[in-house]
Parts: sequence; structure tokens; C-alpha cells
Amino acid sequence: MSVRKYHPVLVVLHWLLALMIGLQLGFGYFTIGKMANSDPAKLQPLSIHMGIGTAIIVLMFIRLATRYFTSHPQPSESQTKGIGRLRTPVHRLMYLVIFVTAISGWLTGYLIAHLYETPGNTLPADFAQYPTRVVHVWMALVLFLVIVLHIAAAIRELISGDVNVIGRMGFGSRKT
Ligand code: HEM
Ligand code: HEM
Repeated sequence: MSVRKYHPVLVVLHWLLALMIGLQLGFGYFTIGKMANSDPAKLQPLSIHMGIGTAIIVLMFIRLATRYFTSHPQPSESQTKGIGRLRTPVHRLMYLVIFVTAISGWLTGYLIAHLYETPGNTLPADFAQYPTRVVHVWMALVLFLVIVLHIAAAIRELISGDVNVIGRMGFGSRKT
């Protein structure tokens, strides 16, 4: 079925996850990343980060399932020419990068979970011993860069595209 807008469940999940992922990146770089592993107080913000991150994984699975079972708008004319053709591959890449970032974070959390059993514990001095943490930090950077590209593409489409692309990721009648 041809539709003008994304399904409302996908719209809610898009904006909620954008907010949550934005928080994870900001909080990850500016709070957690700045604290020394030798500081026992680091475990608390890290546990909030892991909680939000785990919720992101669950919501991403719901999003993927909703996407599979609902119709979504076809590329506009400007998205079938030139750089606009990157739309579909970049959206797919975003799903992949979000999953790899979040799951590598979750696996790191699993490896350090035992530290939460005794109060006053600190994180290992060299976090690089966990390959999952190395993947997590690099993928978080890739995710940040892809999001910048994504927002730039949305702005470009708003300025010179042929549909109201933000409106497509909003509520209202989906009939063409
Ligand atoms: C963490 C931030 C964000 C992430 C991870 C993200 C992710 C995504 C993904 C994966 C899609 C594809 C939807 C699908 O096909 O299921 C999408 C679509 C879209 N996003 Fe975002 N997004 C983010 C922030 C934003 C922001 C800030 C804007 C507005 C400037 C925006 C505007 C859009 C629009 C307009 C679409 C529909 C594009 C189209 O159909 O051509 N997104 N987003
Ligand atoms: C899309 C979701 C996520 C994003 C965007 C994200 C982002 C980040 C960022 C930016 C950092 C800081 C990197 C640095 O030290 O410079 C970080 C660290 C970390 N994250 Fe995540 N994360 C996500 C999900 C998760 C999940 C699900 C878990 C575990 C359940 C997790 C566990 C960790 C751990 C253990 C660290 C290491 C702390 C440190 O480097 O000192 N993350 N994350």
C-alpha cells in the first residue's frame, strides 16, 4: 500500500529513540568518558547509561518489527537522484550501527556486571582489555557521524526537496 507518512508507532519510536540515543552519546562522552576508572562513583552514572542503553535495544527490536509489518513512504523524486539516492542505504546503515553500538555496550556491561555485587568496587584500570568496549566506543563515534549526515540530509531535503520530509515523520492522515 502506498502511504504519505510513516506508521504512528514508528513516528513515536523515531523521536523517542532520537532523544534517547542523543542522551546516550552526550552523557557517554561528557560524563562517563570523562570520569576516571579508579573513581568508584563512576559505577552509578554507568549503570544509568546501561539501563537506557538496554531500553534502546528493546525499543529498536519493536521498531524493526513495526517497520517490517507496516507500509512506509517511497523515496521522493529528489531522493532518487544524485546524493539523494543515499537515503535508503544510510537508513539501513543506521539501524545496523545502532544495534552494533548498543549490543557491544550490553556485552561490556555483562562482563563488568560482577563489579556491582560489592559496594565500593572500581572499574578495571585498562578498559581496553574488553574488545567489546573497543567496538562500543568506535561504533558510538560512527553512529554520531552518521546521525550528523542524517540531519544534514533532512535539512537539505527540506530546503531543496520535493516533499515535506519532516512531515513524513509526523502524525496525520497517511492516505496518498
Ligand atoms: C539520534 C538521532 C536520530 C536517529 C538515530 C535517526 C534514525 C532514523 C532512521 C533509522 C530513519 C529511517 C526510518 C525507517 O525507514 O524506518 C529515520 C528517518 C527520518 N529521520 Fe531520523 N534519526 C535521528 C534524528 C533525526 C532528526 C534530528 C531529524 C530532523 C532533522 C530526523 C529526521 C528524519 C526524517 C525526516 C526521516 C524520514 C526520511 C525519509 O523518509 O526520507 N531524524 N531516522
Ligand atoms: C545506542 C546506545 C548507546 C550509545 C549511543 C552509547 C554510547 C556510549 C559512549 C559515547 C560512551 C563513552 C565512550 C568514551 O569513553 O569515550 C559509552 C561507554 C560505555 N557504554 Fe555505552 N552506549 C550505548 C548503549 C550501551 C549499552 C546498552 C550498554 C550496556 C548495557 C553500554 C555500556 C557502556 C559501557 C560499559 C561503557 C564504558 C564506559 C567508559 O568508557 O568509561 N552502552 N557508551
